[in-house]
Amino acid sequence: MANDWWKSAVVYQIYPRSFQDSNGDGVGDLQGIRSRLDHLEWLGVDVLWLSPIYASPHADNGYDISDYEAIDPAFGTLEDFDELLADVHARGMKLVMDLVVNHTSDEHPWFVEARSSVDSPKRDWYWWRPPREGFAAGQSGAEPTNWRAFFSGSTWELDPASGEYYLHLFHVKQPDLNWENPEVRSAVYAMMNRWLDRGVDGFRMDVINLISKVLPLGDGEPLPGGLGNGFPLYANGPRVHEFLQEMHREVFAGRDAELLTVGETPGVTTDHAVMFTDPDRAEVDMVFQFDHVDVDHGPLGKFDTQPLDLVRLKAILDRWQVALAERGWNSLYWNNHDQPRVVSRFGDDRDHWAASAKALGAVLHLQRGTPYVYQGEEIGMTNAGFTSIDQYQDIEVHGAWDELRAIGVPDERILAGMAHVSRDNARTPVQWDASEHAGFTTGTPWLPATPNHTWLNAAAQREDPDSVAAFYRRLIALRHELPVIAHGTFEMLLPEDPQVFAYRRELDGAVLTVVANLSGDGVAVDVEDPAAEVLVANLPDPVIGADLRPWEVRATLTA
Ligand code: NOJ
Repeated sequence: MANDWWKSAVVYQIYPRSFQDSNGDGVGDLQGIRSRLDHLEWLGVDVLWLSPIYASPHADNGYDISDYEAIDPAFGTLEDFDELLADVHARGMKLVMDLVVNHTSDEHPWFVEARSSVDSPKRDWYWWRPPREGFAAGQSGAEPTNWRAFFSGSTWELDPASGEYYLHLFHVKQPDLNWENPEVRSAVYAMMNRWLDRGVDGFRMDVINLISKVLPLGDGEPLPGGLGNGFPLYANGPRVHEFLQEMHREVFAGRDAELLTVGETPGVTTDHAVMFTDPDRAEVDMVFQFDHVDVDHGPLGKFDTQPLDLVRLKAILDRWQVALAERGWNSLYWNNHDQPRVVSRFGDDRDHWAASAKALGAVLHLQRGTPYVYQGEEIGMTNAGFTSIDQYQDIEVHGAWDELRAIGVPDERILAGMAHVSRDNARTPVQWDASEHAGFTTGTPWLPATPNHTWLNAAAQREDPDSVAAFYRRLIALRHELPVIAHGTFEMLLPEDPQVFAYRRELDGAVLTVVANLSGDGVAVDVEDPAAEVLVANLPDPVIGADLRPWEVRATLTA
């Protein structure tokens, strides 16, 4: 068990663009991160995960990489990076990099070379296909498969010079690498090894379960609007476990270091998750599943937002707890740079802001799994409150706007969905203090700070022992202190209750019971042990067995 240190660890995600600017250009950077390490050490997190900082044209804010070995000038230099890494290590924390290797940028030299000629030695590093049989290049319907891209439109882009199409599951500027080609795999492993040799402590692997496609590439089930669903033909594909085992052998095996690997795996099933994370199979330490954050998506997709069905949310999380109870490991998250702010999404950011932020934090952090805190979540940051399409920067929003309007969805409905779940909600600057631009920059921020930073900010909360931040700090410390939180069993209680989220954890005679009222109305609960002690609670004077007040959470321990 020596190398499962991450079971009692908490990871903090930094989205560098929005974390802290040090040079007044309105974009966060590495020196900015260095200047805020005090906050992270105070919070007590173990690992920092940096969203991509590599050279990039920023079509998708760095998830389109043009040089895996260089730092983007917007974020700083390799020297800045080494300084940051040294500081993080000196404070007893680890640093995990984002690894985006399902695709590169179309400006990566590999793709530039691949595109230059059908005879290029790198041509086969990407997915090139002629037009569909019977169609001319560029003709409507000539795309080699009918797949819809994540950011709208076809996954295929015509290269007029060669008359062939290349595959991009995401944006047109994110061509997919061909993992069938062993040279691609060796190049990726060599790059990963260089980062580990430089001292980084692991990787968060972007959409890593999409790297193996079903061959030959074929059409998916038709979707409304003419395109098809290719997802079953490239998610959890036939060689994905083989590739990850090979990566493990080539990169991680034999390294005598405490590393962390987490695979981002949209559409992963519990069976595949066990396979990805069973230590005996040597693939990755844990995965990010999406079922619980897809819970409010509607028939027309994520922007067709539905009210939260708490019973369903609990059933999803329970299913994941049960499936990975014996083998494998869960990641726990509400937030990241792709998800809206949880206090606005599942909590009540108007009437019960602090209580609901804390209650949601507690029900997540006390489960079995490794919790991830996304920057600003620890102070209860809220959604951005955008009301017009022009306020959004995210390519996903703009693709969806055109697509949903084209099928007749009214603007107000689309905007309501976007206000609720768009990714820009997560990307507004971290609210450090009450000053202009929330202390994020002295220049003009690339995305404006949310106006509530005047009262909702880290500086105010660090002073206040009852703040959301103080509560998160306590949750993080508890995971370090209590083995029942890191290692105990999990049993969902009251699964059909539409207001209460309750569960029990047990280890070696210690019993932890968590009861939370995720609603604005009081409710009775009768699952606590009267002989237990209150370990953590979010409202004053908690009484074991008493009705739960609006958004009240109590965690009680029987030793
Ligand atoms: C998942 C990342 O989290 C997201 O931000 C990005 O747009 C896609 N992968 C494509 O890299």
